[in-house]
Amino acid sequence: MKSLIIYDSFFGNTKLLAETIGKEFGNDTKVLHVSDFKQEDLKGISLLIVGSPILGWRPSEKTTAFLMSFGKDQLKGIRVATFDTRVKLFFHGDATKKMSEMLSNLGAEVIVEPNWFIVTGKEGPLAEGELERAKEWANQIKDL
Ligand SMILES: Cc1cc2nc3c(=O)[nH]c(=O)nc-3n(C[C@H](O)[C@H](O)[C@H](O)COP(=O)(O)O)c2cc1C
Repeated sequence: MKSLIIYDSFFGNTKLLAETIGKEFGNDTKVLHVSDFKQEDLKGISLLIVGSPILGWRPSEKTTAFLMSFGKDQLKGIRVATFDTRVKLFFHGDATKKMSEMLSNLGAEVIVEPNWFIVTGKEGPLAEGELERAKEWANQIKDL
């Protein structure tokens, strides 16, 4: 199964999660910063995972621009999953649910509930156990 993982990251936490998830998927998986994405990267993929930090209660600007770059139904036939990173606040907002909704509106099939991982402060690091949880999540997706 050829997969593509697209992430944005300012302090490295979302990047680390994307790379960790990518490793669980193995060789047929490309992990790319959202700025490095080119339309041809979509060729032949059956699974797309998108990860973004929550910034100001929503996905990063680059992630939103990436999602808005597709035409209607362009992602038909592609299975997708999304995650965000966030701090533990009473009102943290959301990125992952918004990203899943946007992808669904582009014709993609959202195969798991939007997921998120906690960073212990703006710059991280990730909260204890989150990398393990990311590995488990990757394996859960692999089996779907
Ligand atoms: C300008 C700015 C706005 C942020 N807004 C939110 C927010 O609305 N909700 C939240 O949970 N975390 C917020 N954060 C914390 C980020 O989610 C956190 O820095 C990010 O998950 C770290 O991931 P990264 O290392 O991949 O950049 C904000 C951080 C910055 C720098």
